Amino acid sequence: MRITVVGTGYVGLVSGACLADVGNDVLCLDVDPAKIQTLQQGGIPIHEPGLPELVRRNVEAGRLRFTTDVEAAARYGTVQFIAVGTPPDEDGSADLQYVLAAARNIGRYMDGYRVVVDKSTVPVGTADKVRATIAEELAARGAAIDYSVVSNPEFLKEGAAVEDFMRPDRIIIGADDERAIDCMRELYAPFQRNHARQLVMDVRSAELAKYAANAMLATRISFMNELANLAETLGADIEQVRQGIGSDPRIGWHFLYAGCGYGGSCFPKDVKALVRTGREHGHELGLLAAVEAINRRQKLRVVDKVVRRFGEDLRGRHFALWGLAFKPETDDMREAPSRVVLEELFARGATVAAYDPAASREARRIFGQETRLGCVERPMQAIEGADALIVLTEWKEFRSPDFERIRAQMRQPVVFDGRNIYEPAVMRRYGIEYFGIGRRCRAA
Ligand SMILES: NC(=O)c1ccc[n+]([C@@H]2O[C@H](COP(=O)([O-])OP(=O)(O)OC[C@H]3O[C@@H](n4cnc5c(N)ncnc54)[C@H](O)[C@@H]3O)[C@@H](O)[C@H]2O)c1
Repeated sequence: MRITVVGTGYVGLVSGACLADVGNDVLCLDVDPAKIQTLQQGGIPIHEPGLPELVRRNVEAGRLRFTTDVEAAARYGTVQFIAVGTPPDEDGSADLQYVLAAARNIGRYMDGYRVVVDKSTVPVGTADKVRATIAEELAARGAAIDYSVVSNPEFLKEGAAVEDFMRPDRIIIGADDERAIDCMRELYAPFQRNHARQLVMDVRSAELAKYAANAMLATRISFMNELANLAETLGADIEQVRQGIGSDPRIGWHFLYAGCGYGGSCFPKDVKALVRTGREHGHELGLLAAVEAINRRQKLRVVDKVVRRFGEDLRGRHFALWGLAFKPETDDMREAPSRVVLEELFARGATVAAYDPAASREARRIFGQETRLGCVERPMQAIEGADALIVLTEWKEFRSPDFERIRAQMRQPVVFDGRNIYEPAVMRRYGIEYFGIGRRCRAA
């Protein structure tokens, strides 16, 4: 099949490369010329395991190409995936300007039947807007060309995006016309050879299902964070509570970790957008508004602990920070807790040496002029002379560090663990003063 993917970001590039890998011819479009140039020259603009090999293989096979040519892209694929960003607008609603610009371009230049697939996360009713936008453009051209609009929300996780796309839990197809449904079945058949994973439903339910999934996961995290804060006051240990409830099959183990809050390009904006959608339709989604508020507070939790330990004035204090990305195996820092923590530390006069296996370049881009931030190449470099170590991302390489060395190289052995990756008892043994989230931590 000939496929165009509009928007070559985390979702678009992974989707395009995976679709090419099963034999389709894929053209990825982006309006960012620097991104397309990087890709055309063999570079990969994001950190995603397995992606460089996958892209290289399919480019070499001639099945995957990149362009900034909007007209060529609209004329290329029978299937046109829209995978552009839907960032929050000022009022928290999803900003649809990129989705509708993509639809407009498709309508302006398409020259035959198209299945237009909304893969971006978009509020209920967006497929209707995409349909209307294309209709307007066709009318302006005086063209009568048939097309279908499908909702196909994406559930891949950054850090495991290739694997998730290749072996999805489910493929949601929201559509109401048979021709489009058949096309999507054919397109996704290679990704569900073991058993059917396709759920065909009406467009609005498909659009809402994506928000429901992210809102549920965010709710679990905020629930655990709220309980973690209570556990600290009560002298209980949230990790033991987690074991106590995760073992219940009705609850399960996933997304029950207390920590310094969720970040990333999806949960924060999708929860906000869903709350906003509710409000627009006269439904106050009180639970989700609380999920969002708890998360905002939780990102400050580590700073609260630092301030309690070192005082409000942090001038002259120097911190080591491990983990800038919002989660491991990605360089994505959108809404990452690290951004809030860094801002707060800088505001109090502290300096920071940060290490992240993938996100240093992104941090330099975000904090460009900030002289109080140094990004270092190795975790132990960050530790030297630090008043404390702050861990904000649970990268594997942080899990079992050389604690003797940490203690020896720091000005004082203090660790703030925003992801609960260390055991308080072990830290005590090493003589490290340890602060987790919702844990029973006695100072060393
Ligand atoms: N990142 C994830 O893990 C993830 C997972 C599931 C769903 N989603 C959803 O997928 C969508 C895309 O997310 P992302 O993280 O890939 O975003 P991204 O910001 O990484 O990529 C979006 C790309 O679209 C490009 N773009 C914008 N307008 C364009 C236009 N008119 N024509 C062509 N290109 C255009 C941008 O230049 C950018 O490169 C969002 O709605 C997001 O909520 C993301």
